[in-house]
Amino acid sequence: MSDSPSILLLNGPNLNLLGTREPDIYGANTLHDVEHLVTETAAAADYGVNALQSNHEGVLIDAIHEARQNSRGIIINPGAYTHTSLAIADALAAVNLPVIEVHISNVHRREAVRHHSFVSPVASSIIIGAGINGYRLATLQLIDLLSEASPRT
Ligand code: DQA
Repeated sequence: MSDSPSILLLNGPNLNLLGTREPDIYGANTLHDVEHLVTETAAAADYGVNALQSNHEGVLIDAIHEARQNSRGIIINPGAYTHTSLAIADALAAVNLPVIEVHISNVHRREAVRHHSFVSPVASSIIIGAGINGYRLATLQLIDLLSEASPRT
């Protein structure tokens, strides 16, 4: 890959099933569509994307730690770990990179157990209920934050 700066796109459990999983809630687009959307949006601003989906909490945590070496910021949809994982929130806080949290569905219109997020307190921005377009918005927002942090000449 080129010398372009990179962002890390992380998707948590069950998001590999996008497109077939509860399409009335999550829509018809696949994880591949999501990764393509983020990659295209980032490329227009000269950013690369490292994309990872995992159904395993520790794999997501390892990827967050590795982001210190190879990424300027993180877009994460932690799936159900949003509502359960203090460990993922701790990892995000530890690496001290800007974080954008994304949820495809409007979790606040769903069961009460989905209303609390361990990740939100460590996120710079949160995009909820915009479908997969939320990932595009997250990419634009992250790039905006990064350019504020280190304006390019
Ligand atoms: C989700 C919402 C979570 O409550 C759920 O467990 C997911 C997906 C979303 O993108 O809407 O897996 O994060």
